[in-house]
Amino acid sequence: MPGLPVTDEDIRDLELLIRSFHPLILIDEPDEGRVVAILEVLAQRLGLPLLRWSAHRGLARVDGDKTAVYKTEAPEQCLAHLISANAEVITYLSGFAQHLDERPVTSRIRELHDVLAGHRGAVVLKGSPADLPPKLARFFTLVRLEVPSSEAYHRYVSTVLANLRTRMPVRVDLSGADVAELLDHLRGLPFYEVRKIVTRCVVEQGGCLDRKSIVAVIDAKRRTIQRTGLLEYIPAPREEAEIAGLTRLRSWLDKRRRAFRDPEGARAMGLSPPRGLLLTGVQGCGKSLCARAIASSWQLPLVRLDPSSLYRRYFGESEQNLHRAIRTAESVAPVVLWIDEIEKAFGGDGEGDGGTSRRIFGTFLHWLQEKRHAVFVLATANDISRLPPELLRKGRFDEIFFVDLPSLAVRQEIFAVHLTRRHRDPTAFDLAQLAAETDGFSGAEIEQAIVAGLYSAFSADRELTTELLLEEIRGTRPLAVTMAERIAELRRWAAQRTVPAD
Ligand SMILES: Nc1ncnc2c1ncn2[C@@H]1O[C@H](COP(=O)(O)OP(=O)(O)OP(=O)(O)O)[C@@H](O)[C@H]1O
Ligand SMILES: [Mg+2]
Repeated sequence: MPGLPVTDEDIRDLELLIRSFHPLILIDEPDEGRVVAILEVLAQRLGLPLLRWSAHRGLARVDGDKTAVYKTEAPEQCLAHLISANAEVITYLSGFAQHLDERPVTSRIRELHDVLAGHRGAVVLKGSPADLPPKLARFFTLVRLEVPSSEAYHRYVSTVLANLRTRMPVRVDLSGADVAELLDHLRGLPFYEVRKIVTRCVVEQGGCLDRKSIVAVIDAKRRTIQRTGLLEYIPAPREEAEIAGLTRLRSWLDKRRRAFRDPEGARAMGLSPPRGLLLTGVQGCGKSLCARAIASSWQLPLVRLDPSSLYRRYFGESEQNLHRAIRTAESVAPVVLWIDEIEKAFGGDGEGDGGTSRRIFGTFLHWLQEKRHAVFVLATANDISRLPPELLRKGRFDEIFFVDLPSLAVRQEIFAVHLTRRHRDPTAFDLAQLAAETDGFSGAEIEQAIVAGLYSAFSADRELTTELLLEEIRGTRPLAVTMAERIAELRRWAAQRTVPAD
């Protein structure tokens, strides 16, 4: 792999740990190439040899003489060798985490810990804390690497291109702004993905890296994030989402755009970047629409978490899944983390499921409180009564907004928005009457009435008219009628705890 960029920042913590005789280190980082590149630079800086173990080769030096040490393929043989050699070397054990549960390995790890504690010799594994058997957890020091900077990505892309140029002519047809956009989308991807994507783009486009590559990168990013099975990646929408009403909520967001996009400046003003919002309210009144609106207004991608995926056994431990989702979101920051129907993630009573949902909830709250990355959480809830009260306490979310049924004036606007979207001229309709006759309709129901009206008009080979729409409207019983009691209850609850979105 062409040289990966390694910065002082990447090395700092590790160097300190090794200098202070921390014998066992666990690096929580998905990109193995990056871990090895960092260890190479570090070993050189400390003047120590670097060894690498893998199950098929055993122990061998990464630099200099690469002959493998005899009979060290088995994990316990490898540890036995390291214990008896007791040398000041850095050893990277590749794919070792899966062996930690094996009995002879467990006891050897403790022994190794004691032996190496006397000097700078250290053993490094790649994995997440959940890979450690509880008995061994206290012997390891956990290191998390920051996501590489845009500058590091820039350098790496240049290296990949230089490498390609030794094999074929390569042209770069990107403006300064294009490059910035490309780097924005690359951020958070492991370097091996970056190399694959850039290489494929160049080869497919006859040796040219241009704006088309940006689309390909967005696509690759979406696939990489989707592969976690937990998150869906939605790139920043180019067009503003058309929203009627919700003026208070929108002005709240407008006011905070800058603080979120420019956290340094905000800090200088004594502000901390906004954490997030909880939206609750009547169905179909625009909660999900708002998530998209923030993304387009702030020009940020959305990552959407489907809360039920956390509990899908197939993907592993629920708590671990949440950690993974959070880490992935952080790796693509600045970003909006959209958790739709958050009560599905944390609404369990914590008894039916052996405490899992309560533990997950604790993890989430802790993260929300301590959050350092530019991840803005937008949560929506339909059934607030199922949410743990701690989540609603001040200081968790910046604000809780209640999205109610649209008022007369807003209904008029909603008609205008949706008629326009369907290529109709709103001034050709009696919007005032339409709004007057849709008391209790949600935005979604108004949209539905327009769609139904269009079907009627189309099948009868007529144009859509106010009369046709009124017919549809009179034939509809809105949720506000069928669920009047439930909505009244929601409003009572919201009156004391939330801010109206409109
Ligand atoms: N204020 C509004 N302005 C414009 N369109 C709206 C508005 N409210 C709702 N709509 C329309 O209704 C559709 C459904 O709204 P949305 O999905 O945002 O509602 P929701 O509050 O998330 O509902 P649910 O609780 O069912 O998830 C939107 O895609 C949009 O077309
Ligand atoms: Mg919704």
